[in-house]
Amino acid sequence: MRSKLHLLIVICFSLLVVGCSSGKKQPVNEEMEDFVEGLLAQMTLEEKIGQMTLFAGDMDQTGQLKRKDIEEDIKLGRVGAIFNNYGAINTRRLQEFAIKNTRLRIPLLFGLDVIHGFKTIFPVPLAEAASWDLQAIEKSARIAAIEASAVGLNWTFAPVCDISRDPRWGRIVEGAGEDPYLASLIARARVRGFQGENLKANNTLAACVKHFAAYGAVQAGREYNSVDMSERMLREVYLPPYQAAVDEGALTLMTAFNDLNGVPASASKFLLTDILRNEWNFDGFVVTDYTSIMELIQHGVATDEAQASEISLKAGVDMDMQSGFFQKELAKLVEQNIIEEEQINTAVRRILKVKYQLGLFEDPFRYCSDEREQNEIMAPEFLEAARDIARKSIVLLKNKNNLLPLSKELKTIAVIGPLADAKIEMNGSWAAAGDRSKSVTLLEGLRAKLPEMNLIFAKGCEIDGTVTDGFAEAIAAAMQSEVVILAIGEAASMSGEAASRSDIGLPGVQQELVEALHKTGKPIVVVLINGRPLTINWIDEKIPAIIEAWFPGTQGGHAISDVLFGDYNPSGKLPVTFPKNVGQIPIYYSSKNTGRPFDPKNKYTSHYLDVSNDPLYVFGYGLNYTTFEYGEIMLDKNSMTDYETLEVSVEVTNTGKIAGEEVVQLYIQDAVASLTRPVRELKGFKKIMIEPGQSVTATFTIKPSDLAFYDQDMHFTAEKGEFRIYIGGNSRDTKSAVFELK
Ligand code: NOJ
Repeated sequence: MRSKLHLLIVICFSLLVVGCSSGKKQPVNEEMEDFVEGLLAQMTLEEKIGQMTLFAGDMDQTGQLKRKDIEEDIKLGRVGAIFNNYGAINTRRLQEFAIKNTRLRIPLLFGLDVIHGFKTIFPVPLAEAASWDLQAIEKSARIAAIEASAVGLNWTFAPVCDISRDPRWGRIVEGAGEDPYLASLIARARVRGFQGENLKANNTLAACVKHFAAYGAVQAGREYNSVDMSERMLREVYLPPYQAAVDEGALTLMTAFNDLNGVPASASKFLLTDILRNEWNFDGFVVTDYTSIMELIQHGVATDEAQASEISLKAGVDMDMQSGFFQKELAKLVEQNIIEEEQINTAVRRILKVKYQLGLFEDPFRYCSDEREQNEIMAPEFLEAARDIARKSIVLLKNKNNLLPLSKELKTIAVIGPLADAKIEMNGSWAAAGDRSKSVTLLEGLRAKLPEMNLIFAKGCEIDGTVTDGFAEAIAAAMQSEVVILAIGEAASMSGEAASRSDIGLPGVQQELVEALHKTGKPIVVVLINGRPLTINWIDEKIPAIIEAWFPGTQGGHAISDVLFGDYNPSGKLPVTFPKNVGQIPIYYSSKNTGRPFDPKNKYTSHYLDVSNDPLYVFGYGLNYTTFEYGEIMLDKNSMTDYETLEVSVEVTNTGKIAGEEVVQLYIQDAVASLTRPVRELKGFKKIMIEPGQSVTATFTIKPSDLAFYDQDMHFTAEKGEFRIYIGGNSRDTKSAVFELK
């Protein structure tokens, strides 16, 4: 039965779930309004359009088109923001051009993709999501902001809020995985970390929520491809993390490259105005992704530069990244009365307000400090934090007969594999100014931990390619050792932008290397270093111990060694499902039941002939060196109304011999609804440390908004009836209970 609760739910949704939709928004700042209006009143049309233009500098190339004349543009006030240029001296020099040469002395913004660290590189975002540790994630973003702001930057193109359920897509590495609930909390943590508590402090960065919207759903996982999905799927699964970041107060937002249901994101009034401005009240500015306005011509929705500029401005874009189309076309469009100057004023106001909030008008050079650049980069406590979150991100996938942790008393260990000593791969993609030569490899981490141990290193093979010449040496190393630590996976360049793969197995001859080593009969620990779920069925079947270390960043080798030798008890849980093969994609835990759920006794049920429906590893999965037992779920009542909450608790006992952290996960299913609903959806989690033999009660509060979905009329509604609760240490192995919404 359908209730008429949607209005109430909308209110509750704002207040309870998303944590109030105008979360960190400041009350109207009259001083800022007056300042911006005063400035705007003095600006010529040319100067306004300059503020709406962003060009790349030459310290990095992150897209297809480069410009050479930015210094000239800055001096002429034809550009208001620069990216891919950093360094205190460098940014000071450019800022001086803007301040000394232009009439109104409007400071520049300096942006960069500071995605998972600036110099101290943290694990890739997908890895950090595996920590399920919001404080650690916030800290990682905070440190990234401290370092980046010390070299003149004041704007980061992060957090990436793209949900992805397709591991072929290389950029799955940049987001928080497949689940909107987890990803939303992480998006908020990152915004808090980047923007800090006081935007005017000299160590904060303006965050940029990206890529709006649904970029992670590109068809067939092929980069820059189209996205076609129902509005319900969009709103329930893909939009929540962007909205969460907006609600947390992110100052800027970037459009996506893809078209969504036929409309390129940079031309989408539906996304940029109806949803972003009118529904979410976003008051920051919108920048396009790299040359996205130019790409409207390739998309086939604009015939020329003028039309592309018109469409995107009217849709709600405020700043043009790198096309140069706004710079070239907007004034003419105003003269021709195709666009109104007031539309330009609106965009410029938003941009100036961000500059104001960062304190740039008070001191345009507040971010360009030589001294900070010398003293605040790769500080020991930053490296320690990087090691800590890298350990927290590691997921123990298999540990047969407790092969791990390894004993420090072992005499000889073979350290094998193309990723065992690969400095240049540890940081993964989008590693900003991370100095790869400073990243600690697994071999270096092991040597540091175990100076007395005889570690025999053999590369075995390259990450990619067909050469097997190194196998003999690797086998010989294994034969002389008590245990093999085998580091395999992907190159950093195999994930990130423009890095889609149609086969997500191990590249090159790595699989053959594993098989050859397996034949030696030596116990093997596989360490995966990679940026996406991999199809490693054979390894899962035959190799006794597997850890997923992802691209772990600057301190990766130390972090992995800590886990391998039990100095850290792994607690990471997968933020994304690992498929058995590519044919299962998209595969995610919150699927629908279908009208014919699989029944092995009935041919005419939903299944494949050649692979089971089950993934290799489910969402939320991850082992620990200790074991946990879950008690029965307890409810404070058997039913709730739409104006109440319900308390759910479960006792979790550490049944092993050492202390360990468990991520207790709460899932909910709407048993019968007016629309088909997922078999379960994550609605809460708690990460708790439990001493051996100890029991801890995890308590969750269920709110009406946790039960709501978009009904047939697209109202966000909770329908009365039965709900099922599942609680456990992953999305599959759970205890259950039921209650009713009355
Ligand atoms: C293109 C990428 O899609 C985007 O994420 C990035 O921020 C820009 N290039 C700038 O580097």
